[in-house]
Amino acid sequence: MDTQAALQAIAEASSLEALQQLKAQYLGKNGLLTGEMKTLGQLAPQERRERGRVLNEIKQRLEQALAERSHTLEAQALEAQLEQESVDVSLPGYAFPSGGTHLISQMQAELLGIFRRMGFSVVEGPEVESEFFNFDALNIPPWHPARDMQDTFWLEGSSEFRIHAPGGQPTRDQGRLLLRTHTSPMQVRYMVEHTPPFKIVVPGRVFRYEQTDASHEAMFYQLEGLVVGEGITMADLKGAITELARGLFGSEARVRFQPTYFPFVEPGAQFGMWWAERERWLELGGSGMVHPNVFRAVDEYREQMGRPRAYETLTGWAFGFGIERLALLRYGIPDIRYFYQQNRLSFLRQFKP
Ligand code: PHE
Repeated sequence: MDTQAALQAIAEASSLEALQQLKAQYLGKNGLLTGEMKTLGQLAPQERRERGRVLNEIKQRLEQALAERSHTLEAQALEAQLEQESVDVSLPGYAFPSGGTHLISQMQAELLGIFRRMGFSVVEGPEVESEFFNFDALNIPPWHPARDMQDTFWLEGSSEFRIHAPGGQPTRDQGRLLLRTHTSPMQVRYMVEHTPPFKIVVPGRVFRYEQTDASHEAMFYQLEGLVVGEGITMADLKGAITELARGLFGSEARVRFQPTYFPFVEPGAQFGMWWAERERWLELGGSGMVHPNVFRAVDEYREQMGRPRAYETLTGWAFGFGIERLALLRYGIPDIRYFYQQNRLSFLRQFKP
C-alpha cells in the first residue's frame, strides 16, 4: 500500500462523497490498510509488534488527513451555500399598496371632532326609514312637495320596524317605508327615546330620487345637529355654527344666517360661512328653532309608549347640511360625481391623509 499516494488522494478529494469513498478504500472492512492489518497474525511476535506500530501510525495519519479534508470541504460547502442564499438588504423592497380614508370620511371625522369638543354626542339612525319619522313627525304634511316621486325613494311594504312600547306592542302605524331623504328623522327618534337636555350630532347617508349632475347625487352624506334644553335660543345656534366655521376655516371665519323655510323649524334660517382665505361666502345648510309641532308629535308618541311628555316647556334648535357640498367648496372640486360614481383612485389619492 502506497501511503504517500493515499495521503495525496485524500488531500485532493473534491467532494465529501469522494472522501467517503477513499475512506472505504483504505480503512473500510475490505480496505487496503485493513487488509494489511489482517496479515499481522502471521508474523513472529517481534516483527508483529514493529509492523503493528507502523501500520497504526499510518492509520492515524490517514484518519487525520481524512478529518482535515472533510473539515475543509464542509467549510467550502457552507461558504458556497451562504454565497448563494445571501440577501441584499440594500435592494429596494416591493411597494405594498396601502389603502386610505375616503375624503368624505375624513371630512366627517373632522366635523365630528369639532362637535365632540363642544360636548356633543354622536348618534346614528337607520337609512331605511318610515314615512312617519321622515315626514309626518317633522311637520311635513302628506301634500308637501318634499314627498314627491321626484324626491323620495319609496320602498314596497309597510313599516316593519316600529318603536315598541315597553310591553312590546307597536304603538302606531308609521306608514310606508322609504330611504331617508335627510338625517332629520333622527331628531324625532332621539327625542322619543331620551330625556332632555342634550346635544347631539347625527352623521349619515341620505337619498334623493333625482337626476344626478355636477352638484346632485342620489346618495350623499349629511350632518344633523340637535340641541334641546331650557332657555335654548337662536344665539346658541349662532355660537355653535360660528365654532364650526372656526374649526374648519380658522379664527377669522364668520357666519351669516338668512331667513328661509323648513317645515320643522320656526324661525328657519340657511347659514353660510365666510372663508377669509378665499374671500367668499359658502352657503352650507339649513337650521332653525325646533318647530312646536315637532315637539308636540314627539310628546304624543311618547305618551302612546307610556312615557311622560318632556318637551312642552323647552326650546331647541337644529341644523343640517351636506358633507359633500362642504368638501366640494373647500377643495375646489368641480363635480360631486367624482366622489362615488367615478370613484377613480387617481382622484381619491389626492386626498390621502
Ligand atoms: N333636513 C334639512 C335638509 O335636508 C336640513 C335642516 C336640518 C334644516 C335641520 C333645518 C334644521 O335640507
